[in-house]
Amino acid sequence: MSKTPMRVAVTGAAGQIGYALLFRIASGEMLGKDQPVILQLLDLPQAQNACKGVMMELEDCAFPLLAGMIATDDPAVAFKDADVCLLVGARPRGPGMERADLLTANGAIFTVQGKAIAENAKEDVKVLVVGNPCNTNAYIAAAAAKKVGRTNPANYHGMLRLDHNRALSQLAAKTGRDVASLKQLVVWGNHSPTMYADYRFCTSNGDSVKELVNDAVWNNDVFLPTVGKRGAAIITARGLSSAASAANAAIDHVRDWVLGSSEWVTMGVPSDGSYGIPEGIVFGFPCECKDGGFKIIQGLDIDAYSQEKINLTLKELTDEAAAVQHML
Ligand code: NAD
Ligand code: LMR
Repeated sequence: MSKTPMRVAVTGAAGQIGYALLFRIASGEMLGKDQPVILQLLDLPQAQNACKGVMMELEDCAFPLLAGMIATDDPAVAFKDADVCLLVGARPRGPGMERADLLTANGAIFTVQGKAIAENAKEDVKVLVVGNPCNTNAYIAAAAAKKVGRTNPANYHGMLRLDHNRALSQLAAKTGRDVASLKQLVVWGNHSPTMYADYRFCTSNGDSVKELVNDAVWNNDVFLPTVGKRGAAIITARGLSSAASAANAAIDHVRDWVLGSSEWVTMGVPSDGSYGIPEGIVFGFPCECKDGGFKIIQGLDIDAYSQEKINLTLKELTDEAAAVQHML
């Protein structure tokens, strides 16, 4: 007997990430090849025609797992009974902007949507914020949800998986090892150039990646800036922000959260105080996922260099949190 369909709400469905995301969700890449899905698309009134076009294309794929779909400009309708919400809809940055510059333009969206999710979605809904600045937008949405009280604020995540995947590719190229062999990478902090991609615990077929790299200058002057500024490099090259790789990271994040992962994964989650990060700040942590839940991996040694990097990215996030207090 086939499973009960899961309801997946996607905001910004008519945008470029939406276009790279929806077909993969409908084909079972996010929730499993035996899991039917109902897509609930949210976008602005002026984007409803474009949403219709995307739905026509979804129809034309005849996906066996696609059990239904709707498009709406009403958050209450889009989030109704949702099991998973992917909050993509927001303005992307252009050349010369930092993601934090989007705070005022995009922050307000997440008070409205955090509340609407808490009032309408399933109580155990899983929420992933992709729209930038994604950590602080998730912080805003979780605060709005906390006020309503129905859903679990710990389930409002920001997406650090793109940084994690970018770091994996750079490390694979540097060491000459397969991406698939690299385990136990962590990206701490904010989805911004201050993120700290940390391969001190990372192994490849049992070998220490730190020892394989053995190049502190490369780490500091090449690796961290390349990963941290990759989003801007893509905007310069494409004239548009990353879309397919962002959609891919969102699928990775939700798939591991729902279906579990035997590997460490980086997730932007509201801090429970781990590693001295203030409670509620949405921070990239190493996590393990099991039985539909996630746990922050505890007890990792933080050396002086790492603490300095973590403090820097935390400072940016606490400044962003202070700047949005009036919205909460
Ligand atoms: P886009 O401009 O192509 O699409 C955005 C869509 O969101 C549009 O269809 C727009 O109408 C819609 N939208 C705007 N406000 C909305 C609202 N209040 N409710 C519902 N829909 C709304 O942009 P994109 O390239 O798809 O990027 C979307 C966001 O994702 C941007 O903020 C971008 O910076 C961010 N992003 C994040 C990551 C990450 O790693 N976290 C990676 C890439 C892009
Ligand atoms: C990215 O990292 O590619 C996205 O966050 C888009 C951006 O503004 O950099």
